[in-house]
Amino acid sequence: MCTLKRFDRTCEIISNKEICTNYFELKIKAGNIAKYCLPGQFFMIGIPGVFLRRPISVYDSKKNVLSFLYKVVGKGTAILSRMCSGQLQVLGPLGKGYDLEICKELNYVIVAGGTGIASLHFLAIKLGKNKAKKRTLYYGARSKKDLLCLDKFKEIGWKVVVSTEDGSKGYKGYITDILEEKVKDSDVLFACGPMPMLKKVVQIAKEKKIKGFVSLEEKMACGVGNCQGCAVNINKVIKMTCKDGPVFEIEEVEL
Ligand code: FES
Repeated sequence: MCTLKRFDRTCEIISNKEICTNYFELKIKAGNIAKYCLPGQFFMIGIPGVFLRRPISVYDSKKNVLSFLYKVVGKGTAILSRMCSGQLQVLGPLGKGYDLEICKELNYVIVAGGTGIASLHFLAIKLGKNKAKKRTLYYGARSKKDLLCLDKFKEIGWKVVVSTEDGSKGYKGYITDILEEKVKDSDVLFACGPMPMLKKVVQIAKEKKIKGFVSLEEKMACGVGNCQGCAVNINKVIKMTCKDGPVFEIEEVEL
């Protein structure tokens, strides 16, 4: 699979449904773009009447259809959420995705916070079903209503452990509170979510000597490395989240 292809194309909306309050799944007809996407990569999506495109991670990609999971957080995503048909200009796939080669014959965990679950869902699908391996999703959210696609992970054989800040489902507190004890037998860890969660995940992974990857969620303007709007300090070196990431190896990051 080639990861260097990039497209800027007008794509037709197939569906754009609210899967729970404020969270939408958008499906577009993407033609051959779909086969070039890796988990962790994203697209800059042009929304009619909105100046800057919005970066949205790939949630799924199959049979010429690209899916995105997004939360309505401002004007752009609110306009997008009202589009049930029509066309969108999409640029991508962009950025560096997760390295799947590392996963052969290993036990792994996914740690997700909030909408970070989107790219990790695509990753779980690509990792495929394999009962011989241990695979667990640790997923934290504010409340029960913010926990998405748990059934989809269970369907593909993942054990699911959840936490909510208000205690409405699973462990009450942050997912990182229970991670330390649970991940000690894991070989590889993948994480995406808010920065405080990722900081703790990186610290735990380094202490336990677990290799893996974190995907950063930074605000983006251009999405292709031109504007420096997504600059992050990775181990005392300035990098662009959109171009050098959003996925970084745990060993290389000091968050
Ligand atoms: Fe412009 Fe990353 S968003 S450099």
